[in-house]
Amino acid sequence: MTTCRICATPIEAFMTFGRMPIANGFLLPEQFRDEYFFELAPAFCPCCGMLQIIDQPAPEMMFHGNYAFFSGTSRYMQAHFQRFAQQVMDTILPGRADPFVVELGSNDGIMLRNFAAKGIRHLGCEPSENVAAAARAQGVNTLCAFFGKATAEKIRAENGPADAILAANVMCHIPDIHSVAEGFKALLAPNGVVMFEDPYLGDMVTKTSYDQIYDEHVFVFSALSVQNAFARHGLELVNVEAQVTHGGSMRYTLAPTGSRPVSDAVHALLAAERAQGLDKAETFDRFRANCEKSKADLVALLTRLKAEGKRVVGYGATSKSTTVLNYTGIGPDLIEFISDTTPIKQGKFTPGAHIPVKPYEDFTKAYPDYALLFAWNHKAEIMEKEAGFKAAGGKWIHFVPEVGISE
Ligand code: TYD
Repeated sequence: MTTCRICATPIEAFMTFGRMPIANGFLLPEQFRDEYFFELAPAFCPCCGMLQIIDQPAPEMMFHGNYAFFSGTSRYMQAHFQRFAQQVMDTILPGRADPFVVELGSNDGIMLRNFAAKGIRHLGCEPSENVAAAARAQGVNTLCAFFGKATAEKIRAENGPADAILAANVMCHIPDIHSVAEGFKALLAPNGVVMFEDPYLGDMVTKTSYDQIYDEHVFVFSALSVQNAFARHGLELVNVEAQVTHGGSMRYTLAPTGSRPVSDAVHALLAAERAQGLDKAETFDRFRANCEKSKADLVALLTRLKAEGKRVVGYGATSKSTTVLNYTGIGPDLIEFISDTTPIKQGKFTPGAHIPVKPYEDFTKAYPDYALLFAWNHKAEIMEKEAGFKAAGGKWIHFVPEVGISE
């Protein structure tokens, strides 16, 4: 029997996406034979409201010395993290003597470089050595480690308590939230805060963006589930702020219980989540039905375009696309290649579906008839940049919030 990672209530999967490879496990043909697969099946805990996947591959299989994810590749994301850092500097750090900021999963230093530039004491905690090295090369102090109580105690012993602990698109990766929460308590100054943001469950349900569910995302949070998960560790949800990043995210602020007032935004979001049914299992039965429809519609559309002799390529070899491709069974017969600007992915093949990943120039040098926007979370940035594709008669295929062609 499977139990909830937060409250140990027995839970069951409400659907399965089938056999899935490692979402960021771009690979070469000689590696196809040994490719690792696991069953991707999400479950909803009716007791604490946490959406989680039943099985998750070992962390070392996902975050290692050759991790294919570099945050700094998007211009919009750089601006987003600059604003996040500025918010911390303006609202949390003033009045503190020699403040200290820690970030979990600091990747290539996209957020912390803003603190480094101002001479603010900072430390990133990043388990993948290749991205940690990229951060250090830019002057961002980085410890290559997974964050938990032991790491937190070591950081505090060497640097003192943290005024702000930050994480972006990281908390949802960590199965042992309790160990992380204990780490927060061990490291946080009494008047300090934890601020983290991740894809938001409310958006995922509204948009049927089932591609948010993949190996690295062991949880998809709501205000309700975050409140429940941290309350037991003496950390209170004191603020929430919606973000447009990653297709709809939420930034949560936690503080030692009773140390700060709970904002009106928290009360309003909790009420909105109840109204949306994010506290009820039936909501996820409807979500499953919507996923099935999305799958059938996408396969039908691509099959029709192929029959008409159209060229279709993918745009952005995202981690999310691994769920879409393996759930729908769409492969190189329907999508010629996927263009991506990340050098480490180019020349490789997508996990499971084995569609070639090619440099961006392969997209621009001979525009296809259709481009399937896998990086839909960067739509604004991409549409701005790709006016030429449209002018040449190219059309975009989207699948969030529903499958269709943008004229
Ligand atoms: P990302 O948004 O990080 O999604 P995920 O978390 O699902 O991996 O990935 C975006 C991918 O799209 C990344 O591999 C870079 C690529 N990309 C482009 O190829 N061109 C672009 O203009 C943008 C913004 C992203």
